[in-house]
Amino acid sequence: STLVVNASNNARNISNTFHGVFFEEINHAGAGGLWAELVSNRGFEAGGQSNIFDPWTIIGNESSISVSISRSSCFERNKAALLMEVYCGGHKPCPFGGVGISNPGYWGMNIEQGKWYKVVYHVKSEGMFDFQLSFSGVDVKKVSSNILHVYGHGKWKKVETILEAKATNHISSIQITTTRKGSYLLDQVSVMPPDTYMGHGFRKDLFQMVADLNPKFLRFPGGCYVEGDYLKDQFQWKDTFGPWEERPGHYDTWGYWSDDGFGFLEYLQLAEDLGAMPIWVFNAGISLHDEVNTSAIAPYVQDALDGIQFARGSSSSPWGSARAALGHPKPFDLRYVAVGNENCDQASYEGNYLYFYEAIRSAYPDIQIISNCDASNSPLSHPSDLFDFHIYTDSNNMFSKSTHFDHTSRLGPKAFVSEYAVWKTDAGNGSLLAAVSEAAFLIGLEKNSDIVEMVSYAPLFLNINDRRWVPDAIVFDSYQVYGTPSYWVQKLFIESSGATFLDSTLDTKSDKLIASAIIWQNSTDKQNYLRIKVVNFGTTTESLTILINGLNLNVKQYGSTKTVLASNNVMDENSFLEPNKVVPQTSSLVNADKDLNVILSPYSVTSLDLLI
Ligand code: AHR
Repeated sequence: STLVVNASNNARNISNTFHGVFFEEINHAGAGGLWAELVSNRGFEAGGQSNIFDPWTIIGNESSISVSISRSSCFERNKAALLMEVYCGGHKPCPFGGVGISNPGYWGMNIEQGKWYKVVYHVKSEGMFDFQLSFSGVDVKKVSSNILHVYGHGKWKKVETILEAKATNHISSIQITTTRKGSYLLDQVSVMPPDTYMGHGFRKDLFQMVADLNPKFLRFPGGCYVEGDYLKDQFQWKDTFGPWEERPGHYDTWGYWSDDGFGFLEYLQLAEDLGAMPIWVFNAGISLHDEVNTSAIAPYVQDALDGIQFARGSSSSPWGSARAALGHPKPFDLRYVAVGNENCDQASYEGNYLYFYEAIRSAYPDIQIISNCDASNSPLSHPSDLFDFHIYTDSNNMFSKSTHFDHTSRLGPKAFVSEYAVWKTDAGNGSLLAAVSEAAFLIGLEKNSDIVEMVSYAPLFLNINDRRWVPDAIVFDSYQVYGTPSYWVQKLFIESSGATFLDSTLDTKSDKLIASAIIWQNSTDKQNYLRIKVVNFGTTTESLTILINGLNLNVKQYGSTKTVLASNNVMDENSFLEPNKVVPQTSSLVNADKDLNVILSPYSVTSLDLLI
């Protein structure tokens, strides 16, 4: 096979925001994941109106303690609190260590030696209270403890304690115990680790995995998460900012309680911290099981306008001032919004969409509006700047979809491939097979980058204890993390954002090869590179000759490299035990010549960087 790269023909720019990430609250990606709060169900709201308070457990027996949910919290929008009746103490001493409650967080709290943890709880008691805080399996030293705030008539108090861990336990629990008889109400219990990214609440190792993808945009917060099972369950941005204790939280479409500590402001902050452009997906008045008729869509439209103003309005605007009051006077760089998620087929979508479109276009003419309707095969019946394209399929079909946008009209809206992944049998938990065909698909998108403006894989995160949607790009538990082969494929493509796409032709008998060529600049060494990516999705080894026309290669210099993603078995995966089983391997190309011969192993992705 021969690949001829013609640097002087038809070179064009790929969008600066070509590769990004899509963060959805799914698989405990945020709660119990990127959002570093360690307590699960911190406000006792997760059980709804019932008396269930999972995953809290009781320390002590029936004769010494009883607990139940009381709806008498000092927080108006989340009335559940835990009523704890302690019968022991005084004449009848409590068991050694006291009685109380314990919370394992999200399948175990990662408590690490030497770190200072901030524990906050709210308590109301008639008499004195005297709670001991501890982490299971870890000795702690109390560094400080203060009553920070008193609510109402002095009955509710907010207590903040700093605990230093004297040992490490990756699956610890917080324990709140007492030996004092009495009746106590407890609410809003939080344990935050000290070392979140810039103190913004993001778990550092998970943040770094995303940052390493150098995403140019962050689509958030879903996905179906935006929709909710019913409209009452949707992500309502106005319920997710301000003091964390006062956020009502909601039961999300992925089957778990979200306390909304990771709220609208935190999503915008995450985008800013990543250096990525925020892309807000808001509810279009449609959930998975109900929808608002277009005649009643006005409040939703106003909500979206308010959200945009919160994100990017000046600090003298009504909602911009709310943002400024929360410590972010500078407007966020919100330039893209999506009207709903996967709602095109719903009866009210187009009618609702048009209301959103007209209101946003008139108030914010520069904002790019994304429709849920696919314009890749036929034109849309409504105006839009971009259209969403989602694909979850098997590996053969993903490979063949590399040509999907070849015939898309160049006159209509640009494509935003905001969710793609190989899934089911071919993917397992994240296989090489899936990743190689996704690489072919991405090469196809690069080739069509005159119409495809942005692309992101989905889902981004999986907490291994909540395998609701598999595969994913990044897998973690309380303290470990690894990237699946699909994650590593994304890393091979991040330099495409803002790169120059070059014309190339592949002459081959194999129908399983695909290649592309770009020129990109390395921001570290400021050198320009010709990058050639080739996917061999076939079962046989292929030999490829590469001929480069119209470029002066510095190929004799150090700096040119070859990176290969391959493995012994197509179904090979990474895991906590073998996190680097399927990762790209880079070697130097010191003797590279202008004409290159490359051996492409079966099911492999090869990326050559040639210094120019
Ligand atoms: O990525 C998982 C889900 O797939 C998203 O929530 C939804 O948009 C799609 O159906």
